[in-house]
Formats: sequence, C-alpha cells, structure tokens
Amino acid sequence: MIYPVRQPLKISAAVFLVVLGLLFTYVFFREDAAGIGSSGSGVSYSGSWPASVGHASYGALIVDSKGLVKDAHRLPTADSFLPHFKAVTEMKGMTMDEAKSGCTWLYPAAVTFTFDGSDADWKLNDRSDMELDRQRNKWHEFIESQLLPFEEYKERFDGRGIIIVAGNEKSLKRVRVILRQLMKLKSELPIEIHFWGQELNESSRNALQELWQPNKMFFNDLSDPANIAKTKFNPYLINYQLKTAAVINSRFAEPFLLDSDNIPIIDPAELYDSATYREFGTLFWPDIARTRTNNPMWPITNTKCRMDEYEQESGQLLVDKRRFFYHLQLADWFGNAQPDQYYSKFLLGDKDLFRFSWHALKTPFGSPARWLTSVGTLTPDGYYCGHTFAQYHPDRDDGRIAFLHGGLLKTLSKELISWHRETNGGIFKAYKKHPHDENWSVTTNVSIKWDIAEYLPNKPEGMPVASCTDFYDVEPKILEEILPGFEKRYEEIGGYWMLDA
Ligand SMILES: *[C@@H]1O[C@H](CO)[C@@H](O)[C@H](O)[C@H]1NC(C)=O
Ligand SMILES: *[C@@H]1O[C@H](CO)[C@@H](O)[C@H](O)[C@H]1NC(C)=O
Ligand SMILES: *[C@@H]1O[C@H](CO)[C@@H](O)[C@H](O)[C@H]1NC(C)=O
Repeated sequence: MIYPVRQPLKISAAVFLVVLGLLFTYVFFREDAAGIGSSGSGVSYSGSWPASVGHASYGALIVDSKGLVKDAHRLPTADSFLPHFKAVTEMKGMTMDEAKSGCTWLYPAAVTFTFDGSDADWKLNDRSDMELDRQRNKWHEFIESQLLPFEEYKERFDGRGIIIVAGNEKSLKRVRVILRQLMKLKSELPIEIHFWGQELNESSRNALQELWQPNKMFFNDLSDPANIAKTKFNPYLINYQLKTAAVINSRFAEPFLLDSDNIPIIDPAELYDSATYREFGTLFWPDIARTRTNNPMWPITNTKCRMDEYEQESGQLLVDKRRFFYHLQLADWFGNAQPDQYYSKFLLGDKDLFRFSWHALKTPFGSPARWLTSVGTLTPDGYYCGHTFAQYHPDRDDGRIAFLHGGLLKTLSKELISWHRETNGGIFKAYKKHPHDENWSVTTNVSIKWDIAEYLPNKPEGMPVASCTDFYDVEPKILEEILPGFEKRYEEIGGYWMLDA
C-alpha cells in the first residue's frame, strides 16, 4: 500500500524561503520536538535573524537560498525534512565528470578494490549523464510521491534495542555467542530477531529466549504482510535486502542493527549516549575500501566523490527512526524496489544504501572518529590474515574498540582455525591499526588477499582458501596489547562453535 505524504503546508513554507533566501541567509528555530507532528505545523520559520545568531543558538538551522537546510541532521522530526527534500529534488543534476573531480588518488587501485573481480561495464565505461539523470529522477519521484507517512506508522515504534537478522542454523549459533557476550557485558537492551517465514521455528525461538532476560526478546517475521517495508527472500542468495527492511519494521524507535557475526566489546547501550549519536541521530561505521571514483552512485545522489570517506560497513548501525523514517525508506527503495536490480550492479549488498541515501537527501550522518582496525591471525613466521574488523566507539575522546565484526572468519577452514587455536594462542592474535586512522583523508595500501595456508603442517588436500584483509604498509602487533583477554572471552562465549558443527 502506498500512501502519499501530506505536505502542502510545508512546501509552501519552502517556497517562501526560496524567495526570501535570495536576499538573506535565514535561520529558523526548532520547536520542542514533543509539540511537533500532531498539529501538522511543527516547524516555524522566522526570517530575520542574522546568520550569526543561527550559529550560536542550539537548534538553530541555516537554510540556503535554494531552501536546502545546512546541517539537516538537526531537523527534529521526519516530517520537518519535507521542505528540505523538496529543495533536494530541485537541485541541478551532477554530471559524471563533476562527481569524479572530487577524487584524485594517485593509486586508486590500492584503495578502491571493491568490484575488482567483476567485469561490470560501469567500471570501464562511465555511465552517460542521460542515464544518471533518468535514474536520479526516479528516486526523486519516489521521494515526492511514494513515501509512507511517518504519522501513520509512528505508533508502531518505541524505545531502544538491538535488532539482528537471523534464521538459519549457523546464524542462530552466532546469535547465541552474541547473547552470551551481551550477558557478560551486563547489557539490559531488549533484542529483536528478524527472520523469514518458516526459517525460525518455535522451539528455536524458545531456546533463544531462554538466553535473554524475560520479556526482553522479540521476534519479527519479515514475511508477515503486516510489516511496513515488504521484502523478498531467496533461499539461494545472501539476503541483504532483509536488513533495510528489518530496520524499518523494527518495533524500536532507535534500532541498533547488529550482524550475527559481530561481537560487541562494549554494551551497545553506551552508543546512544555518545556525543556523535546525540549530534547526528545516526551512527554509520566505515568499511575497508573507498567507493570508486566513477561509481554512478556519486552523481545519482548529487555527491562529489569524497576522498575522506570509506564505503559503509553495515555490520552495525544505529539510527533514530523518528527523524530518519523517510531516509530509511529511500535506502530500502534503492535496495529492494528496482525490478532490474539497477543498484546492485555497483553497490555491494545493503551496506552503502544507508550512506548514499543520506548523501542523496543532503543529510550529514554520524561516523566514528577512527577508521577500522584489521584483526586476524599471525603465524610464527609472521604471515598475517585479517578476518575481522575492530570498529571503534564513535567519539574522538573515547578510543575503545566497540565491536569485532568477523566478516571473513567464515572463509577460514576448520583445520586452519584449529591449528591457530592450538598452536598460536588463537585466531584473535594480531591487529593492524593505521597510524593515521583519525584522518580519513590519509590512505593506506589495503586489499583482500587469499591465504592458501602453505604454512599449515599436514595441510589437507583440497582445503578451502581463506580470504583475508591486509594493510600492507602496517606492521602487525599483538591484539592482547589493546584488547586484553579477548581470546579467552571468545572461548568462554562459545565462539569456536564452528569446530563442532
Ligand atoms: C526447529 O529448527 C531447528 C533448527 O533449524 C531444528 O534443528 C529443529 O529440528 C526444528 N524443530 C522442529 C520442532 O521442527
Ligand atoms: C589529513 O590528511 C590530509 C591528506 O594527507 C591532509 O591534507 C590534512 O591536512 C590532514 N588533516 C589533519 C587534520 O591532519
Ligand atoms: C600495495 O601493496 C601490494 C602488495 O604488497 C603491492 O603489490 C602494491 O604495489 C602496493 N601498492 C602501492 C600503491 O603501494
């Protein structure tokens, strides 16, 4: 069901701003958030404050001559974004050349290796500006006429909590590891498991429920037609599209999305109190690679290629739906609503849908001060294989690792894992931390490599090759120095379940 958004009042306010904005920079003050929404006249525009007042006062926002709100992330409610969206859809379209001019890496191959193995046409031949215009118009149309109105759905969301998409047996084993770790961290957050149809039967649900506080575990079947965001499921593929749907459909107003192979090191409840989340209402973490200079997503979202940005790693993500309900719908639309799978040709899974939806809607998002650190195995001869990303607490003045996301761990064979566990003191042996990880403009030579494990004694015939990350110019150090006791903790929470499976 598609509902048009009721917005005539707000759009006329935007037109008013466009006219007056030609003369001055205007500021408007936000009302107390609690008062907004039900009356339908939440944002009040006042036109005569000097810009300096706008900067100095908490909550004051600057609107440019076109009606675009600077620091739009401060808009207090989903509906207060509507005039801003109107201005976004009226922006002049960016050409491919203009978008490409933003990035001038000396060695692009050393930073943008995603899609290296693909023979995708867009990589070799820039998409035409006509195609980019056509695609841009399509999402503009979605924003203008197809958003589900927040007012109709806001009663469905409440509070904070962790959401995990899981269902098959392996993912449930990983969820149990997470639950044991959250118990060690004394987390009190409620948890909601999103699954598809018959995948998660009642006895599996009960077994999970027993591992968590009573009345604090919930389940949502994404195949249920009562869900807000409808999605699909293919038992033969990785179903990335379920993640954007899970965020929208979650019962939580401020859902924290966690992948099942991602182990929290601090209680995720702490993230809600971070200065970064309080400022932006979102936390998006970085991935290892940069987005290619000629990726069509840059111009389609009117964004110049950015040298201070990485791809997004959506193994963990926090968002306030009361403010970004429409942004999330765009992310879901990019990922789900294209019959020709247009966006999946140049975006991997769900991960960059969030970042580019915020770019499209000209809304800054919250990112951690520190880029990720690679964590992995180290042989006695010094061979490093990064199978996990350490992701940091977002605030600059808090250097703690917050998560260990073992995205490539599943590519390590049992034989390899057992050998590291028995001979080298575990698989969480070493780390590589970029010395300039607080300046995202500084690049380091990274890539995914294959570990054929020549070093393994009595290597079995046909053992699968592991894929690993590496930072070639960074020396590995011992993880125990920055994360004391983690290998032991991993044993305690049953992390090595895969050896018995
Ligand atoms: C429920 O699912 C689990 C895991 O897939 C399976 O082992 C178990 O036999 C199922 N139980 C029932 C009653 O179907
Ligand atoms: C970050 O690195 C870039 C590129 O090397 C440099 O130009 C810039 O000054 C650095 N910024 C800070 C704050 O150090
Ligand atoms: C990056 O490291 C790889 C592997 O050591 C090497 O082949 C490549 O030349 C390096 N690239 C740059 C730009 O340093």
